[in-house]
Amino acid sequence: MKIPMVDLKSQYLKIKSEVDKKIAEVIDKTEFVNGSEVKLFKQELAEYLRVKHVIPCANGTDALQIAMMALGLQPGDEVISSDFTFIATVETIALLKLTPVMVDVKPDTYCIDPDCVEKAITPKTKAIIPVHLFGQCCDMDRIMEIAERHNLFVIEDTAQAIGSDFKSDKGWTRKAGTIGQVGCTSFFPSKNLGCYGDGGALFTNDDDLAEKLSSIVNHGMAVRYYHDRIGVNSRLDTIQAAILRVKLLHLDEFNAARQRAADFYDNAFINCPNLITPIRCKKSTHTFHQYTLVLNNTDRKALVEHLNKKEIASAVYYPVPLHNQKAFQDFSYNPNDFPVTVKLCETVLSLPMNTELNNETLKYITDSVLEFYS
Ligand SMILES: Cc1ncc(COP(=O)(O)O)c(C=O)c1O
Repeated sequence: MKIPMVDLKSQYLKIKSEVDKKIAEVIDKTEFVNGSEVKLFKQELAEYLRVKHVIPCANGTDALQIAMMALGLQPGDEVISSDFTFIATVETIALLKLTPVMVDVKPDTYCIDPDCVEKAITPKTKAIIPVHLFGQCCDMDRIMEIAERHNLFVIEDTAQAIGSDFKSDKGWTRKAGTIGQVGCTSFFPSKNLGCYGDGGALFTNDDDLAEKLSSIVNHGMAVRYYHDRIGVNSRLDTIQAAILRVKLLHLDEFNAARQRAADFYDNAFINCPNLITPIRCKKSTHTFHQYTLVLNNTDRKALVEHLNKKEIASAVYYPVPLHNQKAFQDFSYNPNDFPVTVKLCETVLSLPMNTELNNETLKYITDSVLEFYS
């Protein structure tokens, strides 16, 4: 048995007839850019997320950049985000000549620590980018309260948590990405809602912001060849939108399959003191983009090699804290500010997680992990 981290082929085979038909229709109509499937996908995703506006774009990295452009952030403004995330979140801050201020995460959820956010605020701070990491929401009650008190924008990076619900202490429940001023997501193929190439989207309930975002994704243009502002070319291909319309119908079922796999892992590892399983926090559902363990008293390299020999894939998300990345060497960070991230980078290990894991495969994976400790 060879077990990959993601199994896009088996998932495709399940929905092949629906997907192939949709792709053929787009080609037949030759509506490759801004076709009717894009408009329908916008509406359907907005309904699913219960948000007023969805603005599709070319990928999740562009979504983050476009959000900051539309909010009018200026060079030198500080934007606070997590030290423990994929580089795109923070790279886009630096790309726009804003100042990335990275802060530490919570040891249980691996999401941004609101206390660290609060401490990092200066008169130059303009925005916070909480990252709903691995499928679980940050503490958005605290983040929104801090942002409101300091008059800051909140840009949610929900690339890894589409479909997750955040249950506020105030009684409301909202989808990840629809709580701050703007949410950004990625439809990279391995994401919970993934297309067959690159794709992304922005979400907002603010009409003016939606107008700016829609204009920026398309060269700052509302009327053809009349450009109101500086924009970019970042559109979701019609073929990708057509595929996403099919996959959106299956999103809840796919997320439930991930949750079942996570339950299997949790139960199997319950008595192993070397494995700290991912916490399920009360205020958020967990859509398990990744199933990430923290390893206790373990030679991680040896465990990875043991799994490799059994043809079981595993991955380290993420091996290097962002403040230690060469790309950020021109910014000065205090290495003592990130004890949790540093520890996580040394001790996390993600196991195969996708919609196609059956009990037989899961048993083989969990038995193999436990065998390492026996
Ligand atoms: C947390 C996070 N933010 C942003 C991105 C960027 O998305 P994309 O690859 O579509 O540009 C990713 C993708 O891996 C991600 O995991």
